[in-house]
Amino acid sequence: MLQYEDIIKQMSLEEKAVFLTGKSVWESRDFPQYGIPSCFFADGPHGLRKQAGAADHLGLNASEEATCFPTAAAIANSWDIKLGEEIGMALGREARSQGVDVVLGPGLNIKRNPLCGRNFEYFSEDPYLSGKMAAGYIKGIQSQGVAACPKHFAVNNQERRRMASDSIIDERTLREIYLTGFEIAVTEAKPRTIMSSYNRINGEYAHENTHLLQEILRQEWGFEGAVVTDWGGGNDCVKAVKNGGTLEMPSAGGDSCRQLIDAVRKGELDEADIDTRVDELIRVVMEISDHHEAGPEMEELRERHHQLAKEAACAAAVLLKNEGQILPLQPQTKVGVIGDFAETPRYQGAGSSIVNTSMVDKAAAAFSQSQLELIGVEKGFERNGGQYTYLKERAVHLAQEAEVVILYLGLPETSETEGVDRSHMRLPDNQIELLEELAEVNPNIVVVLSAGSAVEVEWQGRCKALLYAGLCGEAGAGAMVEIITGKADPAGRLSETYPHKLEDVSSYHYFSKEGGNAEYREGIYVGYRYFETAGVPVAFPFGYGLSYTRFEYCDLQLDQKGVSFTIANIGDRDGWEVPQLYVACRERRIFRAAKELKGFEKIFVKSGEKKRVTIPFDDKTFRYFNADTDQWEVEAGVYEILIGANVRDIKLSAAIECEGSEGIVKCGKKELPQYYTGKVQDINDQEFLQLLGRTCEEERGRRVLAENNTVGDMRYAKSGIARWVCRRLEHLMEKKMKAGKPDLNLIFVSSMPFRAIAKMTEGQVNMKMVGHILEMVNGHVLKGVVKIVPEYFRNRRENRALERRLAEDHNRRS
Ligand code: BGC
Repeated sequence: MLQYEDIIKQMSLEEKAVFLTGKSVWESRDFPQYGIPSCFFADGPHGLRKQAGAADHLGLNASEEATCFPTAAAIANSWDIKLGEEIGMALGREARSQGVDVVLGPGLNIKRNPLCGRNFEYFSEDPYLSGKMAAGYIKGIQSQGVAACPKHFAVNNQERRRMASDSIIDERTLREIYLTGFEIAVTEAKPRTIMSSYNRINGEYAHENTHLLQEILRQEWGFEGAVVTDWGGGNDCVKAVKNGGTLEMPSAGGDSCRQLIDAVRKGELDEADIDTRVDELIRVVMEISDHHEAGPEMEELRERHHQLAKEAACAAAVLLKNEGQILPLQPQTKVGVIGDFAETPRYQGAGSSIVNTSMVDKAAAAFSQSQLELIGVEKGFERNGGQYTYLKERAVHLAQEAEVVILYLGLPETSETEGVDRSHMRLPDNQIELLEELAEVNPNIVVVLSAGSAVEVEWQGRCKALLYAGLCGEAGAGAMVEIITGKADPAGRLSETYPHKLEDVSSYHYFSKEGGNAEYREGIYVGYRYFETAGVPVAFPFGYGLSYTRFEYCDLQLDQKGVSFTIANIGDRDGWEVPQLYVACRERRIFRAAKELKGFEKIFVKSGEKKRVTIPFDDKTFRYFNADTDQWEVEAGVYEILIGANVRDIKLSAAIECEGSEGIVKCGKKELPQYYTGKVQDINDQEFLQLLGRTCEEERGRRVLAENNTVGDMRYAKSGIARWVCRRLEHLMEKKMKAGKPDLNLIFVSSMPFRAIAKMTEGQVNMKMVGHILEMVNGHVLKGVVKIVPEYFRNRRENRALERRLAEDHNRRS
């Protein structure tokens, strides 16, 4: 049943088909004759990026001024859903003010491995926490009459070959780890749109994946909105329309429209499918325009939102170490501030999420306004590496004079950027060397760490305190000083585990490898689920973080509906605590993680006071996905209910018996021995195929390249010229990277499939031309050139004719 049948009946097939591809880089098509306005999309996971001038989707060209909030990775450390909602509201307000209709965020992909270059944009390694935080953002954004577009749906957890890789994953892991967050976000917050990811999932592109878009998203979760491609992520538009993908962005010109019409005429596509997708998109556009009154002016919002960004940074900062209670510092303490990141804060990541803000706080100014005595500021090191003795000497001199050194360390911009995964988890050597030298002259070192994802911290013995700021937004510098001085209690807890070293991570052998497939061999054992089950020690566990006060947990009560318990603040300061509910199945006939997060609270308790906390159970508390019966089930048995200050520090526990199914599955301990132990770092082909329940193959060696091969795959091309072009491209990328200025455009081009040339050029290039380009790449240069030139002109003529017909239709009807 179509909601907008009246309108759809009046539209021509051509109008409907063209509606399903964008009008420009950021806008959808409008049809004033039917009262359908266009929608303006803008990035906005942690701040708005509305490009008023030249449009590109990688954040290279300037965008309008907006508030830069801490990134999702930092906000997840706050474990504060309400805060997520407030930030969402602020994003929504700024969107209204700038005439943006759809905010492209939040991003809630699972942090499968600390190396993913975009982890800073994502919430957590845990789906429950990710989903709850995302739901907060979506509710907030949409409360302002703007649509949210959670992304990237789904199983998009690495940047390498992100537009072309195939995520090979078993159904249970897909459901429990990679989809549960989206399920929570969709069912609780009802986003009007969702962004499909670039990658394939088990062979099918996300935007044309029936299982994902129809069976799960729409039928199981009841999603009624529009599925939008990631930018340039369209592949087969006919298949997309058939299988549940609504809108292709940015504009692919008339090519997709013609393909849809041809498919209908040839009987390969039912026009009713086009109507359904058109209906989904009209619904979004109409719902937004219903709410469209002019928003408040940006000037009115900026100061207020800057303050919110500061509160958010305070709420998100995690105190990882505080030896001898060095923090908070006493008033009048003589502090020396050192570090490149103190002078030039690193407060957001690079790529399409980049926010243009002019209100960035700096550490030195914040210290000057505090009650501490700031005796000097030194750079100490260059963030992109290198040894500069004079910088070091000046820093050591300052450290000698200071009572306490505040040392700002962090990952450089080059390590955390869209399009590139990190190659290791270490801080640059020059930073560690400086820390060691400073520690020789002054034992009182407080490290403030700026990074969007976990780093190895084997150097932590050299500092007394370690404050993890994350990428904490434009007001982060001031927020960190509030924590250092004790004006604010460190309220954050880790939303991802800090392993001792990269080699300890479950996906270490499988993550971001050469080749077309991303194999999820570690299965459900991601983050703490692995460390806890396999008994691997970590530097800082999931959920960990210190407060300036101390808490005691007592009086656990448990019934079928949930748990309640009391938390007493037994320290002499007021403070924040984040009690976490973990569930562990005692018998485990199916393989399971040792503990799983199923609830949490964030509470403020005054010194000497107590609070009663209740965490209800929900439909996700005991469930697991049975891939054999294709449904969620509860395994009958006894479950431990664990209340912890983090996943390792369990304060209270009790057991509960649950009714349910027998937990009988086709593949048991015999077929999946490693999965039963949780030691999944070396899963062999046979065991992985058992888990998958099917085979998967990958192409290797020199080959004929096709439209879904990436430009970077030219290194395998048969043509020597293509291989040479590829080597040049790689050389240029490396050069820029080494200079500390990664060229996002080149990186994008290299990992882009050839078909994206047609999808990203607003109609200049069509898929036939892509075919001719491939002929050249595959060694038939002349043949390709001879065909591409006439095709270029034909395509141009057809595009113009299409626009003429659309204009005529418009004039006729209005
Ligand atoms: C990113 C998306 C972003 C889009 C538009 C893509 O490259 O993956 O997250 O929303 O560009 O800028």
